[in-house]
Amino acid sequence: MCGIIASIFKNQAVLPFLLEGLKKEEYRGYDSCGVAIIEPHKIHIQKEIGRIEKLKEHLFTSSSKVGIGHTRWATHGKNNLNNAHPHISNKGLFCLVHNGTIYNYQEIKEDLLNKGYLFYSQTDTECIVNLLEHFYLQCGDILSSLNELDKTLKGTYVLCILFKEENRIYFLKKSTPLMLGKSKNGLHLSSDMRALELATDYLDIEDNEYGFIDENHYEIYKAQKRIEKKLYKIQKEKEDTNQVIPSFYMEKEIHEIPMVIDRIIKHYQNDFDIKIKEVIKKANNLIFVGSGTSYHAALRGSLYFENKNVQVILASEFDLNSIKNDNALYIFLSQSGETLDVLKVLEKVSHYDTLGISNVANSSLLRKCKYALEMKAKEEVAVASTKAYVAEVLLLYLLAKGINQNTLQNLKDIQQEIKDHLLHQEKILSIAESIKNKENAYFLAKGKDIYLCKEASLKLKEVTYIHSECLFAGELKHGPIALLEKDFPIFFITSLKNKENLNSAIEEVTAREGIPYIFTYDEHNPLGYLPLITDFFLLSFHLAKMRKKDVDKPRNLAKSVTVD
Ligand code: G6P
Repeated sequence: MCGIIASIFKNQAVLPFLLEGLKKEEYRGYDSCGVAIIEPHKIHIQKEIGRIEKLKEHLFTSSSKVGIGHTRWATHGKNNLNNAHPHISNKGLFCLVHNGTIYNYQEIKEDLLNKGYLFYSQTDTECIVNLLEHFYLQCGDILSSLNELDKTLKGTYVLCILFKEENRIYFLKKSTPLMLGKSKNGLHLSSDMRALELATDYLDIEDNEYGFIDENHYEIYKAQKRIEKKLYKIQKEKEDTNQVIPSFYMEKEIHEIPMVIDRIIKHYQNDFDIKIKEVIKKANNLIFVGSGTSYHAALRGSLYFENKNVQVILASEFDLNSIKNDNALYIFLSQSGETLDVLKVLEKVSHYDTLGISNVANSSLLRKCKYALEMKAKEEVAVASTKAYVAEVLLLYLLAKGINQNTLQNLKDIQQEIKDHLLHQEKILSIAESIKNKENAYFLAKGKDIYLCKEASLKLKEVTYIHSECLFAGELKHGPIALLEKDFPIFFITSLKNKENLNSAIEEVTAREGIPYIFTYDEHNPLGYLPLITDFFLLSFHLAKMRKKDVDKPRNLAKSVTVD
């Protein structure tokens, strides 16, 4: 799972642009990265384990105007230089970067091994580049070879390809996003709109399309037929020119939660688009789909739709056959709008009404859903999602309850409470201090509060690497209690009203010298739990910092998982 950038410039060197683009795509994975450029009759490659900054430090210089780049989140094969992209074919004719997974790569590999090809990595990608070379050596035509490749590969793939003898970049796409962008300086390809900063116009490459770009024109084919596609203008938000790079994006983004509430109020105070209101009003069945934190936001936010039949489904577990009601509105939540598990569900249900909620205006999700809503949380950089969770829950609340004086007032009141929590972090800091050396924690709740626990527990795990589990309080005694020992931290989340329902679980903990931390909220405001989730975001942040972890880019994670 990876980020891809490819560019051809008319009169400037491509390398700096590739590095900038890769930095913007690092959220898709940061195990390794690499670039390749065309020099007369030669392909020059450089790879690095770890971050783009490291690649930048050691990078060769070149005035080449044609290049491809890649940032990797390891799927096939360990995180080492051999497995990093770009990959080159045995005879050095082709070099490519890949995002996706090839399901039949073992078969292809065996076949190529029998033909005498050698493999230097454990990746599925190396099979693709050699298969392409094999097809090309048979027919002598790159476009036909790409069509053959498309017929042979099973799985998901976006490929950007250099051919040693040409100043062109070839591409092929299936299932994961690829955009073509045009700027006054040249033509570009990318798995992500964010990396197409220079571009003024774009088009989406669709499944099974292939072709090439050169410095001022592009050609797109499908099953050997040329197709004409027009470019669309890219809508750009005004840049915030006063941006200072914070020490920790996660901390900055938690502190931006009140500002996110302001932005939502400002943007939506005159109501949602009438079409969105109507489609929600007429739908009796709502099916929410998301992954990770967005799934947790869907679980909590969907509770506001009291008069509807609601199902909340993890994108990776979606099965169309298990959907009982045909007539449903699908609501997709995704901060990035690029999570492949989510996009794959969208593909399966695109003939129904679909509403996408994302923080990225030009994301694949918002481009492909029938109805689209922006979270308005502004860019979220830290891998662990915080302010976007709040935005997601708030939007579901407003969609369910309508925009009126009362609901907007609830947002404003909760904003004030969150500000207070952000100002008074002493208690959170002292809890963090007392558990910073622990390796386990439990989060316990009853009823709907379990959804908050799920998010609090995930956040702790993601950034601190403390093993944590989220449990229904009544289930502690049915097994998980076996792990309890002196000073084991257990977080309880409850509304004030239901606090006494937790009493017996709290007793069970104290009897075994575990430490119960009880977090309560006032249900007077239907958003009353949001200040608590802010506390848990802060707790995870402080702990990660105390434990000297990479707060903004935790190991093994990526901001958006673009493989299934
Ligand atoms: C990845 C991230 C999670 C995130 C999830 C969904 O797994 O590591 O932090 O919650 O993707 O991301 P999305 O962009 O779809 O909300």
